[in-house]
Amino acid sequence: MKNITVIGGGTMGNGIAHVFAQNGFEVTLVDVASGALDKALTTISNNLDRQVKKGTLTEENKAATLRRIHPMTDLKTGVAGADLVVEAATENADLKLRIFAEIDRHAPSGAILATNTSSISITRIAAATQRPAQVIGMHFMNPVPVMKLVEVIRGYATTDAVCGYIMSLSKQLDKIPVEVNDYPGFVANRILMPMLNEAICSL
Ligand SMILES: NC(=O)c1ccc[n+]([C@@H]2O[C@H](COP(=O)([O-])OP(=O)(O)OC[C@H]3O[C@@H](n4cnc5c(N)ncnc54)[C@H](O)[C@@H]3O)[C@@H](O)[C@H]2O)c1
Repeated sequence: MKNITVIGGGTMGNGIAHVFAQNGFEVTLVDVASGALDKALTTISNNLDRQVKKGTLTEENKAATLRRIHPMTDLKTGVAGADLVVEAATENADLKLRIFAEIDRHAPSGAILATNTSSISITRIAAATQRPAQVIGMHFMNPVPVMKLVEVIRGYATTDAVCGYIMSLSKQLDKIPVEVNDYPGFVANRILMPMLNEAICSL
């Protein structure tokens, strides 16, 4: 696996692009808004600068990381050469179902399609494609370059091979993947949301 396409260049998408590019993958970053892409590249550059200042990254590695990120506004072209697509667009079920149907039409038949959704069923998203066996949840935490946890979520049809692949790929990114059930909020948000509600009620 060499070519990764990230859909959505917002808070999560720019972090996901950063981490893949820093680990040697070629990344196509797709967003409908060209302004979002400019902002994403500035954010990635600033975050890489912080790593350079801390001494965890060299200037050469920073430059090489930025060279591996290719911004694009056209999804069809953006997914055409992808081995893996990670979708991190706005959290809206109808939008994600439309995006997955479109990715499915244009990505190579062998490509794995992952979503960073926080709350939408992976089985539901997978059903928008003709390849539900190759659809999986890859739920990064914010800020992506810093946080180690990745929740890996199978849909109803996701194969063992695809799940195993995403688990080992996450480790290659120096993350800690944990396989969790396709349940509203998965595990992290299932625990966090009632805690936040309880905190508000306690005031
Ligand atoms: N923000 C968090 O802390 C966090 C943590 C974990 C997971 N998530 C999940 O990650 C996903 C993205 O969240 P975010 O916080 O980065 O959102 P965001 O609003 O910062 O970014 C979303 C981006 O998607 C783009 N977009 C919208 N429609 C698109 C389309 N059709 N094609 C391509 N790009 C499109 C928008 O222009 C925007 O730049 C959501 O599913 C969210 O639930 C968010």
